[in-house]
Amino acid sequence: MTDTQYLSDWRPYPYEILETRLEFRLDPRATIVRSQIDFRRLAPEDLVLDGAGLKTLSLSIDGQAVSPSLIPQTDGKLIIPAAQLPDSFTLEAEVQIDPEANTALEGLYLSGGMFCTQCEAEGFRHITWYPDRPDVMAPFRVTVHSDQPVLLSNGNPVSSQPGQAVWHDPWPKPAYLFALVAGDLRAISDRFTTMSGRDVALNVWVRPGDEPRAGYAMESLIRSMKWDEEAYGREYDLDVFNIVAVDDFNMGAMENKGLNIFNSKLVLATAETATDGDYERIEGVIGHEYFHNWTGNRITCRDWFQLCLKEGLTVFRDQQFTSDMRSASVKRIHDVQTLRARQFREDAGPLAHPPRPDHYQEINNFYTATVYEKGAEVIGMLKRLVGDEGYRKALDLYFDRHDGQACTIEDWITVFQDATGRDLTQFKRWYTDAGTPRLSLTEEWSDGKLVLNFRQHTAPTPGQPDKPARVIPIALGLIGPNGDEVLPTTVLEMTETAQSFSFDGLGARPVVSLLRGFSAPVTVAREMTADEQALLLAHDTDACARWQAGHDLALDGLIARAQGQEGGAEFIRAIAGLLDDAESDPAFAALCLVLPGEEEIATTMAAAGVTPDPDAINRARTALMLELATAHQTALARLYDAMESKGPYVPDAEGAAHRSLRLACLAYLSRLDGGDRAEALFASATNMTERQGALEQLIAAGRDKDALARFEAEFRQNRLVMDKWFMVQPLRAAAGQAVARARELAARPDFDWKNPNRFRALIAGLTSNHAGFHAADGSGYDFLADWLMKLDPVNPQTTARMCSAFETISRYDAGRQAKARAALQRIAAMPGLSRNTSEMVTRILA
Ligand code: PHE
Ligand code: ZN
Repeated sequence: MTDTQYLSDWRPYPYEILETRLEFRLDPRATIVRSQIDFRRLAPEDLVLDGAGLKTLSLSIDGQAVSPSLIPQTDGKLIIPAAQLPDSFTLEAEVQIDPEANTALEGLYLSGGMFCTQCEAEGFRHITWYPDRPDVMAPFRVTVHSDQPVLLSNGNPVSSQPGQAVWHDPWPKPAYLFALVAGDLRAISDRFTTMSGRDVALNVWVRPGDEPRAGYAMESLIRSMKWDEEAYGREYDLDVFNIVAVDDFNMGAMENKGLNIFNSKLVLATAETATDGDYERIEGVIGHEYFHNWTGNRITCRDWFQLCLKEGLTVFRDQQFTSDMRSASVKRIHDVQTLRARQFREDAGPLAHPPRPDHYQEINNFYTATVYEKGAEVIGMLKRLVGDEGYRKALDLYFDRHDGQACTIEDWITVFQDATGRDLTQFKRWYTDAGTPRLSLTEEWSDGKLVLNFRQHTAPTPGQPDKPARVIPIALGLIGPNGDEVLPTTVLEMTETAQSFSFDGLGARPVVSLLRGFSAPVTVAREMTADEQALLLAHDTDACARWQAGHDLALDGLIARAQGQEGGAEFIRAIAGLLDDAESDPAFAALCLVLPGEEEIATTMAAAGVTPDPDAINRARTALMLELATAHQTALARLYDAMESKGPYVPDAEGAAHRSLRLACLAYLSRLDGGDRAEALFASATNMTERQGALEQLIAAGRDKDALARFEAEFRQNRLVMDKWFMVQPLRAAAGQAVARARELAARPDFDWKNPNRFRALIAGLTSNHAGFHAADGSGYDFLADWLMKLDPVNPQTTARMCSAFETISRYDAGRQAKARAALQRIAAMPGLSRNTSEMVTRILA
């Protein structure tokens, strides 16, 4: 491929835009977009505009037609020579576009009869000719003509009458934040008064009939607005804030200025249709998109290489929000779990890239766990290094200095340096270097002195063979042999490849509670006895390290078993104390009870140089679950009963904690009772959390026929709930049946595969079933490849993103590798393959 973009090629845009005026005449097959863009020259260079799939009806500069020979037929760059342009001018264009044909869901498209847009990253070029790059910012005035009852765009409403609405957004913004919605929508409405007294009208727009399911989204929005004022001093800046739920959406949600557009699964919720996890995600993503108003919109990115400037920071902010709204320790452990499961896996494979990449072919392939989640971890490290006060000072300076600008990671780092006086040259490597450092620890003990010898090593990643040392904040504490904490949390700053730290005057040899709060995104290599791990699990004062100790104990046991040895007995023994005390912190107990997943077992084995056998891993985990269930049957049954819901469902942290412990117990008990409890729970549960939890156990137990039929009969009309039905079957099916089950489901008429939620439900359900997807006969790989090839011409973005299921293939045995590679080669050879998918397949095969 030749169309690689490089960070080093960035040049400032030679024109500024004073105002952008757009006029839409909406029509499903032939929408007319008229644009008037007031340009002013900054440098004597050509004017370059982007366009894709546009039928240009007219194009003029200050009323003078632009020569048709300059206008590309469909895609490409429209270049007007500098010599033909005055210092200031208005470019006027009329183009025709076809929203109904837009199945890629990028630009203006139709979802269930409603017009909506998605412009990040480069969608605006599908709407009209424009400098479609984030560093060109302008105020927008938008007129919409349509017979749809509700017509929305960014900013404040100027006028509205049947068939026409005018919107004005005074805040200069890049085109990727443009949005338009037109449809038969109903709002639930509320108001918010900002800290300086601005009265803001809030609306959550949904399809008629969905209003009763939008309340939680509205409550979450109000909490978000309040939180950003309190935690960051950030206030909302328009008279209205609109959220719209759409059923066809490639991602989770989008922070368009004043008009956030959401995947309906992140808006609509009732106790009967949404799980605790859904509620938590809705609150978190509503917060995320709202927080973008300052970190993303008021201060945006100079170019797409800087994506983590807005995404890493906004994820970090939504994580803080959720920990304030719910339980900080549970949230942290969840975040560590996702980081490990998704980002460490990405960093260890062919798709590894730094949080700030320096080249790409298709930017849509870089909305990744590395940019988002690792980007957030890097900010967490910065905060730990400069302290809470330094962080607050730096953020105040960031908002002060850069409001209204399009910025870089360099700007961000400079703000921290200027606010705190700290040299962050070495720290910057976290942004520019890919890969997860491995931190190893050996200990020396004599005469009350403990010496900790650390080493750091990062394996090469594609294009980056050498990895210099990074600064690693290592938060640790020491736990004495009787369980007392003899050293509270202390942060060591490691800056060298090898570095030692010592602690003197200790009575007896303590156990190191390492990486408290998961203080750096690294893997840890250290020798620990099962007794030491059990000691930490019982006594560590840091929830993250305590959970980690139990988790590692289980992981060691599982890995031993997956290699044909004995293992897990120590974990079963250590968990006894936790079960006795589970009621004091049910959420924590639940987190400790859930065994490491098969994917994580495989990742850990591969990192240690062992070829993972998916079937052996699956058997090891199943067997350990049965053993633990047998050993602790009484305690598990007691807890299962004790955690029964009393009173009405409340989607808060406390209720969710009880339900998560109950379901964790159910997973074990179902191994003993063959699904009796699950069947009873499925029949009696009034909330989706327990309903789905019970259904998953029934599928695992092979006793799912009736339950699936009842579920379907009850929820046939509800797309979002039926997505769950499509997802859990391939996910929880026995490994040997998962592909067959997925095939059956894919043949159903209601497998509406052009809907990204439905496609992902079924396909990701299968690829998340580790042993099922990695079936030795390659059937999982072939099934995935077939469907990716079918979806690619329709929706390249979603297709490309799902190619990452193949990113781990090189860790498996030669037979599986050959089959996976053959499947990928089939995709690569497909005529007309999208640039999105082509880039992903090429990188994975490299
Ligand atoms: N910017 C969105 C978010 O993180 C994600 C997104 C990217 C949505 C690209 C659509 C397209 O909040
Ligand atoms: Zn975001």
